[in-house]
Amino acid sequence: MTMPPVFILAIESSCDDTAAAVLQNNTVLSNVVANQLIHNEFGGVVPELASRAHQQNIVPVIDAALKKANISKEQLSAIAFTQGPGLMGSLLVGSSFAKSLSLALQIPLIAVNHMHAHILAHFIDEVGFDQPEFPFLALTISGGHTQIVVVRDFFDMEIIGETTDDAVGEAFDKSAKILGLPYPGGPLIDKYAQLGNPKAFPFTKPRVPGLNFSFSGLKTAILYFVQKKVAENPDFIEENRDDICASIQHTIVEILMDKLKMAVKETGINRIAIGGGVSANSGIRKTLKEAEEKYGWKTFIPKFEYTTDNAAMIGIVGYQKYLHQKFENTAVVSKARIQF
Ligand code: KG4
Ligand code: ZN
Repeated sequence: MTMPPVFILAIESSCDDTAAAVLQNNTVLSNVVANQLIHNEFGGVVPELASRAHQQNIVPVIDAALKKANISKEQLSAIAFTQGPGLMGSLLVGSSFAKSLSLALQIPLIAVNHMHAHILAHFIDEVGFDQPEFPFLALTISGGHTQIVVVRDFFDMEIIGETTDDAVGEAFDKSAKILGLPYPGGPLIDKYAQLGNPKAFPFTKPRVPGLNFSFSGLKTAILYFVQKKVAENPDFIEENRDDICASIQHTIVEILMDKLKMAVKETGINRIAIGGGVSANSGIRKTLKEAEEKYGWKTFIPKFEYTTDNAAMIGIVGYQKYLHQKFENTAVVSKARIQF
C-alpha cells in the first residue's frame, strides 16, 4: 500500500529573514524568503526591527508559499516552525503563527532546531545533489554559528567543535566593516577575493586547542594591520582591496580546513557536509572539492538556496519528525539558546 503524501508547511523566523516553504514528503514545492533590507542601514541586525518586520511579512510570505505550491491549508499534514536558536522576538512571531494555525486546522505542530535544519537540508530531494550516508561530519558555518558535528542519524548528533567567540560569518562581516564595505560583507569579501592574491598579506592563524575555533583574534589582527597600513598610505585599502580580501578569505578557509582535517583524523569519518550562509563562499567550496582528490574525502555542498536561512530546511526536519511522530502541543516554548 502506498502512503498518502505528507504536506508540511514550514516557517523560519529566527533572525532577519521571514521564510515559508511547503514540502511534499522530501521534495520542496515552494520556498519563499523575504529578506529584511532595513538592517543594512545599521550595519547589522537590529532585533526589535527584525521582529516588527517578521510581523509584517509572515502572512504574505506564507500565502505566497501555499499559492506557489498550489496547496490549500486544508491539505496540510502538519506545521513545522523554528524553535531556536535565534532572536527571541523573531522566533515568537513564527511560533505564535504556527501554533495558531495548527490549532485552527487541527493538525500536528512540529518544533525544529535551526542548526539541525542547516545540517539536514542535505536530505531535501534535489536532482544532481547526493545525500550523505550516516555517519558524516557536518560543518555549519553561518553568521551565528560555527560548529563541527558528528551526525549519526536524523536525531542523533553530537557537537565535537565550535567557536569560542565570533562565528565565521561574523569574521567575514567584521573584516568587511574594517575595510569600509557594507553589511553583510561576507559575499563582498568573496567577490573581491576572487580577483586578488591570497598570499599577499599573511595573517596569523589563532591557536585554539582541539576542534574548537576562535575568530576574534583574527579580526583584531586585521584591524591593527589595516590601521598601520592606512597610517602609512591613506589609499592602502583602495589600492589593495582585492589582495586584502583574498588574504582574509584564504586565512579563514585554512582555519576551517585545519580543524576539519583534525576532525576526520579523530573520528575516522571522511564524509563532510557543509551548511549555513558561509557555505556559499567560493573559497570554501573550491577547497572542499579539492579535498576530495587530495585526501579522498566525499564532500556535500547544498544547493545555494538551502545554504542561507530558508524554510525548506525546516520542512525537511519537519518531515522526518512527522514520520517519527515527534509532535508538540501549544505549550512548547521558543528558545534563544537551545540544547543540541
Ligand atoms: O546562515 P545565514 O544566512 O544566517 C545565519 O544563520 O547567520 O548566514 C549569513 C552569513 C553572513 O555572515 C554572511 O556574510 C555570510 O553568511 N555569507 C558569506 C557568503 N555568503 C553569505 N560569507 C562569505 N562568503 C560568502 N559568499
Ligand atoms: Zn542559519
